[in-house]
Amino acid sequence: MQRLSRQLKKQNKKIGFVPTMGYLHPGHLSLIREARAENDFLVVSIFVNPTQFGPTEDFDKYPRDFKRDRNLASREKVDCIFYPRKEDVYFKDCRTFVYVEDLSDCLCGLSRSGHFKGVVTLISKLFNIVYPDVAYFGQKDAQQAIIIKRMTRDLNFSVKIKVLPTVREKGGLALSSRNKYLSPKERREARVLYASLKKAGNLFKKGIRDANRIKNIIFKMINNKKTARLEYVEIVNTKSLKPVKKIKSGTLIAIACRFGQVRLIDNIII
Ligand code: PAF
Repeated sequence: MQRLSRQLKKQNKKIGFVPTMGYLHPGHLSLIREARAENDFLVVSIFVNPTQFGPTEDFDKYPRDFKRDRNLASREKVDCIFYPRKEDVYFKDCRTFVYVEDLSDCLCGLSRSGHFKGVVTLISKLFNIVYPDVAYFGQKDAQQAIIIKRMTRDLNFSVKIKVLPTVREKGGLALSSRNKYLSPKERREARVLYASLKKAGNLFKKGIRDANRIKNIIFKMINNKKTARLEYVEIVNTKSLKPVKKIKSGTLIAIACRFGQVRLIDNIII
């Protein structure tokens, strides 16, 4: 992969990169399409990254279907799928990790300890393997996107990070590879995540700025659903990820909630 990327650089080709864990859905395809349109050469990586899963998380169960992904990618005219094995990516005695302080320890970082260290270490490695000019991420993983942007800046990677809007089902549920594990009832009820975020957006438009008040309204809407087990609702500054008291334009509202066994996240930026 490095040899190929070096050759492309010599030919002045602009390399677009979409890192994924596979099981591609229309959310990934929107990243792939934008990357296809903006670059000379498009690399998509497919790697279910073990270091970003906790010991009790769904690494073994995470959906995988390489043939299906390869077909989808070829339809989108992806030039190269980087599909490494675990042993191609991690040395057995690897002792170096990348960790973005503070931003990794709040929101999803509280219940998924080590998760962002795994994500950011992998992404740094992929940047050093693929040499992309532009890398594409989804807004659905808002905290991940913010952390990757900070890491890219802090470590002087010369990669532009582009974050594209969340793609949603008709009922508003954000697309995620994990949606496949929702029962029909859980799937219906999970629509409340986006419904509550939209409600928050409308209340802001009506002039309500108090974060606690809006948080309580979101709590109530979600807790009304039988299959929902709310993990957090946080209203935070997008730079520091610290909670704000007053909401303003650009504030991030982020939610994590389980429906049955399936942990979902969603967010909006006001
Ligand atoms: O968002 C994801 O699918 C993953 O966290 C990523 C960025 C591909 C790293 O494994």
